[in-house]
Amino acid sequence: MAVADSHAAPHRNRIEHQPEAVERRVADALAALSLEQKVRLLTGADVWSTYPEPAIGLRRIVVSDGPVGVRGELWDERDPSVSLPSPTALAATWDEALLERLGALLASEARRKGVDVVLGPTVNLHRSPLGGRHFECFSEDPLLTGRIGAAYVRGLQAHGVGATPKHYVANDSETERFTLDARVDQRTLRELYLAPFERMIVGARAWLVMAAYNAVNGVTMTENALLASPLDDEWGFDGVVVSDWTATRSTVAAARARMDLAMPGPRGPWGDALVAAVRSGEVPEKAIDEKVRRLLRLAARVGALEGVAPAAPAPAQLPAAAAAKLARETAAASMVLARNHGDVLPLDAASLQRVALIGPNAAQGRIQGGGSASVHPHYAVSPLDGLRAALGQRVEVRHALGARSEEGLVPVSGDQVTDPVTGEHGVHVRLLDAKGGVMHEEHRAVGRLTFIGDLRANQASRIEVTTRFRAAEAGRYQLGVAGVGAYRLTAGGQVLFDETVAPDKEDLAAQLLAPPQRAAELSLAAGQEIDVALTHTVAPDTFAVAFSLGVEVPALPGDEELARAVELARSSDVAIVVVGTTEAIESEGFDRSSLALPGRQDELVSAVAAVNPRTIVLVNSGGPVTMPWREEVAAVLLTWFPGQEFGNAVADVLLGAVEPGGRLPTTWPSREEDVPVLSTKPDNGKLVYAEGLHIGYRAWARAGVTPAYPFGHGLGYTRWEILDVEAPPSVAPGAAVEARVRVRNAGPRRGRHVVQLYLSRPDSEVERPALWLAGFATVDAEPGQTVEIAVTVEPRAFAHWAKGGWQVEPGAYTLHAGHSATVLTRQAGVTVLDA
Ligand code: BGC
Repeated sequence: MAVADSHAAPHRNRIEHQPEAVERRVADALAALSLEQKVRLLTGADVWSTYPEPAIGLRRIVVSDGPVGVRGELWDERDPSVSLPSPTALAATWDEALLERLGALLASEARRKGVDVVLGPTVNLHRSPLGGRHFECFSEDPLLTGRIGAAYVRGLQAHGVGATPKHYVANDSETERFTLDARVDQRTLRELYLAPFERMIVGARAWLVMAAYNAVNGVTMTENALLASPLDDEWGFDGVVVSDWTATRSTVAAARARMDLAMPGPRGPWGDALVAAVRSGEVPEKAIDEKVRRLLRLAARVGALEGVAPAAPAPAQLPAAAAAKLARETAAASMVLARNHGDVLPLDAASLQRVALIGPNAAQGRIQGGGSASVHPHYAVSPLDGLRAALGQRVEVRHALGARSEEGLVPVSGDQVTDPVTGEHGVHVRLLDAKGGVMHEEHRAVGRLTFIGDLRANQASRIEVTTRFRAAEAGRYQLGVAGVGAYRLTAGGQVLFDETVAPDKEDLAAQLLAPPQRAAELSLAAGQEIDVALTHTVAPDTFAVAFSLGVEVPALPGDEELARAVELARSSDVAIVVVGTTEAIESEGFDRSSLALPGRQDELVSAVAAVNPRTIVLVNSGGPVTMPWREEVAAVLLTWFPGQEFGNAVADVLLGAVEPGGRLPTTWPSREEDVPVLSTKPDNGKLVYAEGLHIGYRAWARAGVTPAYPFGHGLGYTRWEILDVEAPPSVAPGAAVEARVRVRNAGPRRGRHVVQLYLSRPDSEVERPALWLAGFATVDAEPGQTVEIAVTVEPRAFAHWAKGGWQVEPGAYTLHAGHSATVLTRQAGVTVLDA
């Protein structure tokens, strides 16, 4: 079991990772520390790591976002990562075994980058589809979220890398996220929002939990009693509660709460103030000891405490090709075939001659959402690249943009820009000191620059970016900067602007993620080149510098862009339209303002569908968008934000090499106004979860409104029949139900299906959702084959929270077996007996 860890110094008396031995080693280390040393350990040493304490053989612990890859300590293209599909996509697989394999991949990425702890998974719920981090959360259902999240945690930790379910709790939207007070009743908290955390703590023994920015029922989460109970006392959490970045706001209240590690550092409200608070008796030293004990226990688990073998062997280093293969398999397994009229999909490659690949996300696939969940991939395969590669020379794949999904400045990149010093594509960056001396300089591939916790940038007085910009086409370009602070931009020696841009939001992360933009217009001829220089004056005392040198290229006049696309569609065998959002629309730091596709994309799809009956739409977004044209087109494939292997996975699915395996983890509405819980806007700082237990499909069923595509829906390439479901007619309270479901593959090819079980309780003494997911299992079958599968319904599925505990109401429940939350084809009665 003990495997040498490259981080830890060799130690003669290395102990196996056995709980008692570890606890003894931790206790000895703790006893050797002064109060100052202990308190120092409880605030980060920098943005991504904790302090080492050589006196006790403790090295620093490195943490990193998460969850679709491991970014590492840098936040740019200099340190690329494997990029997996968005968490919505991962949940759409409903495949826990796959999630465990992904956990192993992420652990291998973590170790490659010297990372001990991944800041994920994000297990808040899809309360509203407008939630900015919807793409980063798994599902609207607590059981699916909990099971998928627990598999992720197990996969990581089985390889000695810590997982951090976040953000505890009720951080389900982003508007006013630092101060928002979520008002949630106890039952709703227990049955919905806490439930996934419970599964990840009690079931998967996660080593960390992240305390959210927001407050719940009046108390900010880094000081909230929910950290002690149920997390610690009831669920037996023995790990570290880490604050979300800058979420620790007090010395005494946070230290008296069950909050262990204030991130980032080195500044923060603990430090000397906490030492003084302990000395004055406001915070018991015992509380500090317990925090340090938990931190040391974490160190022991990840192999950061000398002399202790890590809790699990280090993962085998996954070769890049194997990682790419798994990323591709996962993306295809997550794609949801929402509509397939006349079985237009899969396409028969042999019969194709001309394919039109249209839309803003066709040549530039959007692989991920925005914010701390983003990584810098080694590469990203666009749908255009993927299809061209799969179809080869014989088939002509033609592309037109048709419409745009993005407005405003886009960081300069590729052959738009040439570094004037190195001659490579990109920009040249210089960090200058107060006297104008060059402290550091480097070539960078894109105009988006992020220095978080990068001391060199923080110590610089100015950052200068120079490049030679080339206009591909003639027209009016907008050239500018996205960022907060002082900027001077020149082009061709002319000053375009020289001004200080004030933040329009207080949230530092939001400033970094969606900063204000300033631009000036430049009229350029086709092929014209112009020297551009951007100088940013670094504000004193800043820990994060982030800005982009960006450009908005000219649009074609009038309807020309759309008309070009329609013309291509008309003269092609099949028209594939890739529509979607971008990482600037679905992001941490703010909520979406609309579910509509941005720009003229809806118009584009309708216009294409009008000229080509074989129109296939790929929707490239992390969460739901409205699709007013969905009945006009032959097929709709929801691809999510699919990670680096987007184009290859799309080609696999469209050409039928692989089945689109996904089933919706969240309801997709027809119209925004139908969504039962939509608003994420707090009223006077409070966001009241007035709908209680009724979110997602539960709320849709209760309202009696039909969505575009229900929770659980997904067609695949074959057809499934549920022949029957059998369950014991009665069970003792607190017992699990083992249901047996017979399923037949009634279609033409081998496939995989997710069989879903829901419970309902029409005549109940207590208020209940119209139905709730109670279990699920996957089935693989050949055409014509009938398979019997076992699906477990856990005792908790029959329980509700009342009077401070879990209660089971005896009596008759109905167990529904089906293909989605609205297509429930078989049922069985189960009576829970009196205790
Ligand atoms: C996010 C966390 C993230 C942290 C570190 C915060 O703004 O809410 O999810 O782990 O930053 O990047």
